[in-house]
Amino acid sequence: MLLEIIDLAVEVNEKEVLSNINLKIRQGETHVLLGPNGTGKSTLFMSILGFPNYKVTNGKILYKGQDITNLNTTERVKLGIGVSFQNPPAIRGVKLEDLLKVESGQSLDEPELNPETKELARKLKLNESFLERNVNLGFSGGEVKRSEILQLLTQKPDFIMFDEPDSGVDIENVELIAENINILLDKFEKPGLRKKSGLLITHLGYILNFVNADIAHVLMDGRIACSGNPTEILEDIRKEGFKGCIECGRC
Ligand SMILES: Nc1ncnc2c1ncn2[C@@H]1O[C@H](COP(=O)(O)OP(=O)(O)OP(=O)(O)O)[C@@H](O)[C@H]1O
Ligand SMILES: [Mg+2]
Repeated sequence: MLLEIIDLAVEVNEKEVLSNINLKIRQGETHVLLGPNGTGKSTLFMSILGFPNYKVTNGKILYKGQDITNLNTTERVKLGIGVSFQNPPAIRGVKLEDLLKVESGQSLDEPELNPETKELARKLKLNESFLERNVNLGFSGGEVKRSEILQLLTQKPDFIMFDEPDSGVDIENVELIAENINILLDKFEKPGLRKKSGLLITHLGYILNFVNADIAHVLMDGRIACSGNPTEILEDIRKEGFKGCIECGRC
């Protein structure tokens, strides 16, 4: 088991957003998180990453067999947890190439990005002048998402959370992002040989045409209402909306 969440409850600004969350993700698996707006999906990601505003009031998070509930974000990232954010902040004064240097273990004193990072950027259609810009400052929606994926490719995490990597992205770029998610999650290996695991939030599910997922979970009002086959669950949601998840009784 790579990630195990047991009876987790989380408060944000003294409001309980998540409760009774139980989730197990094995090495090599990709899970999908579905659910209406404001139901706590991003909050779950921030809680796994250990952001200070997200207070665990019950339960625990185990990662690689270690209780990480009280570790800070830096410690969790060093253990191999990565995320592409839904809305990452713009960082004025920090160049994307400098962030990439730090993330790939280069020294900031090195005059050039290493050739491997340059090549990854080129494949994501982010050219060298783009890399000199301040992080996310004035980036288009699609550029933000590709920049997030590029950073993950340089970090090489073992467990990766993708928060709506497809939202606001045109069809061609969704395919490009999906291809790189497949690289990040070892999807080109046979299932038994995959070392990386993922948890992916998507609303429309279009990206799942290109990224195979093993299990989907539906988060409703801060609780997991249902888990099962991603294609079946998405089809049900498309037909009946999320109220069908409550009524279905499958879980
Ligand atoms: N820092 C915060 N302060 C106050 N409320 C917050 C904070 N962060 C999250 N919340 C609230 O927690 C609830 C869950 O938010 P969250 O961002 O996790 O939803 P989501 O499921 O990711 O929604 P979406 O699909 O719209 O991205 C919302 O009501 C939100 O307003
Ligand atoms: Mg969200």
